Amino acid sequence: MQREDEIKEFVKKRYGELATQGSSCCSCPSCGPDLQAQAGAVGYSEQELGSVPSEALMGLGCGNPAALAELKEGEVVLDLGSGPGVDVFLAAQRVGESGRVIGVDMTAEMVEKAQRIASRRGYHNVEFRMGEIENLPLDDESVDVIISNCVINLSPDKLATFREAYRVLKPGGRIMISDLVTEGELPEDVRRSFEAWAGCIAGALERQEYLDTIKQAGFREVTIAAQHSYGEPGMDERLPGRITSVQAKAHK
Ligand SMILES: C[S@@+](CC[C@H](N)C(=O)[O-])C[C@H]1O[C@@H](n2cnc3c(N)ncnc32)[C@H](O)[C@@H]1O
Repeated sequence: MQREDEIKEFVKKRYGELATQGSSCCSCPSCGPDLQAQAGAVGYSEQELGSVPSEALMGLGCGNPAALAELKEGEVVLDLGSGPGVDVFLAAQRVGESGRVIGVDMTAEMVEKAQRIASRRGYHNVEFRMGEIENLPLDDESVDVIISNCVINLSPDKLATFREAYRVLKPGGRIMISDLVTEGELPEDVRRSFEAWAGCIAGALERQEYLDTIKQAGFREVTIAAQHSYGEPGMDERLPGRITSVQAKAHK
């Protein structure tokens, strides 16, 4: 198996287990079961947390892209790597019944979990599709806005992912991506670790390379809308100060 395929299989297995067994992994390994505190730390308000199904809150994000994307009534939104669907459900409230939110995820257990929550809670304007963000199951120029939360760092081919995002966006459409980037190089053993890859660290690009990759895919006005340093007690002692959570914004 090629390394890229091995990474994807490892990531899929890890998030499949998380979907069925629970617990958090990506953004706050030390936050433990206090998912509300973890979610507050990455930018969700109490009001937002009270308005989404609690089962969708698994502590997997590193930002709050739906809040920063300035979503409007009637818009069609795509969430790349939607997991249990927390940002899909938040976006659904913002675009209303005349809008639609589509979540795409490659892990079957995550898609099934999000679909179960949506049908149990009676969401009519959301949809969850199985698929890879490097090869999206969507038509060209079919969505107004793309959001994503702590996912693109997990992709072994980030340029393909941003090119696909560009393809499915309508002209004038926008992206708001929460993700982890690095400040300089990471230790080689961390880069090689599958565990660190699934934990959203090893696959993270250096900040400028990340922004350049978005530009290379064709996007314009690529900026960082917000950022915070990412580091938790319990993290590899060489990492604090080297990882940042960014909210990257751009237009087609
Ligand atoms: C860290 S979790 C974030 C989930 C969600 N965005 C949230 O904030 O709760 C990463 C998710 O991305 C999915 N994922 C990772 N790589 C992917 C890829 N290449 N294509 C599609 N989904 C992917 C995983 O299955 C997992 O559900």
